Amino acid sequence: MKALILSGGKGTRLRPITYTSVKQLVPVANKPVLFRVIEAVRDAGISDVGIIVGDTAPEIQAAVGDGSRWGVKITYVRQEAPLGLAHAVKVAQDYLREEPFVMFLGDNVIQGGIERLVKQFSQNTWNAQIVLKHVEDPRAFGVAEIRDGRIVGLEEKPRVPKSNYALVGIYMFDHHIFEAVNAIKPSWRNELEITDAIQYLVEKGYKVYPYVHEGWWIDTGKMEDLLEANRLLLEELTPQIAGFVDSASEVNGKVWIEEGAEIINSVIRGPAAIGRESRIVNSYIGPFTSIYHHTTIEASEVEHSIILENCQIIDIPQRIENSLIGRSVEVKRSPIKPKAIKLVLGDHSKVGIL
Ligand code: TTP
Repeated sequence: MKALILSGGKGTRLRPITYTSVKQLVPVANKPVLFRVIEAVRDAGISDVGIIVGDTAPEIQAAVGDGSRWGVKITYVRQEAPLGLAHAVKVAQDYLREEPFVMFLGDNVIQGGIERLVKQFSQNTWNAQIVLKHVEDPRAFGVAEIRDGRIVGLEEKPRVPKSNYALVGIYMFDHHIFEAVNAIKPSWRNELEITDAIQYLVEKGYKVYPYVHEGWWIDTGKMEDLLEANRLLLEELTPQIAGFVDSASEVNGKVWIEEGAEIINSVIRGPAAIGRESRIVNSYIGPFTSIYHHTTIEASEVEHSIILENCQIIDIPQRIENSLIGRSVEVKRSPIKPKAIKLVLGDHSKVGIL
């Protein structure tokens, strides 16, 4: 069994972060989403892992390396342009060959991993197994129609859904998927759609079965979803204090403080994570906040946010909430008159001011 992790794509919905960073490497609860995907695959007993990469290949390769850190062997497969999930399968054909594989979107996080799924698929002689999640309103998703325990049809963002089962970004396939991805034509958005490829399998009479996932699952493609994934993962955190907390500080709830971090005269209310060598001084860090490494927060309050590495947030009079702050960002009070907000923001930045 092999794994194919999709880490190409454009990441337009996560701009401006994705102008300079790879979305799959944005940390949630202080660990990049892609690392979590690799761990889920490894924990399911798969050690041969292919990663689809596009323009952001150098950054992904630098961060992930050859996989030895996780005890897996990683092969990078180049997709020249993000022409769809089924196109990614097509370009990986030489790598995957005849072996069954799990395909996992590199920006998805799933509670509880994929061990049961992988086991169930390997114990059966099915051609595909599709992970589904029961959702209240499936109209924004790919939706599966199920009859007698089998998937009998798929629809992309249907106006009148035939079920409440939405497609999660995880799929099991055997080599018949290549017949499908080589037969289908690009959709209206000029992408080879994986739903079309699965529909092809269904219509040709191949055995396509559902796997209903019971826990949470998040596609971190948008900022609100990243914050939600951060919230859910922080709640599952095992508390650990490896850094320094001075006697004037108060740390309560599930809190993860990494080595070299310093908490001085501050309140940390978990669930929260403070990365290595970060400094929290005279500040309040509220629930559901992840501060990555080498960041300084001074005389400020932050809650329900993700702040990346090497930032400086100093002397901010209002609480920062529901925010995603990229690398090496400075947010400071300006001592120079006139009393005004001074901004240096990249394209597609978003600022909310009361
Ligand atoms: P999407 O989130 O559907 O697409 P995207 O990354 O281009 O983002 P946006 O819609 O905001 O522009 O992709 C899901 C995952 O699959 C993500 O990890 C990127 C990856 N992917 C590929 O590797 N190749 C592709 O051709 C596409 C479309 C996505």
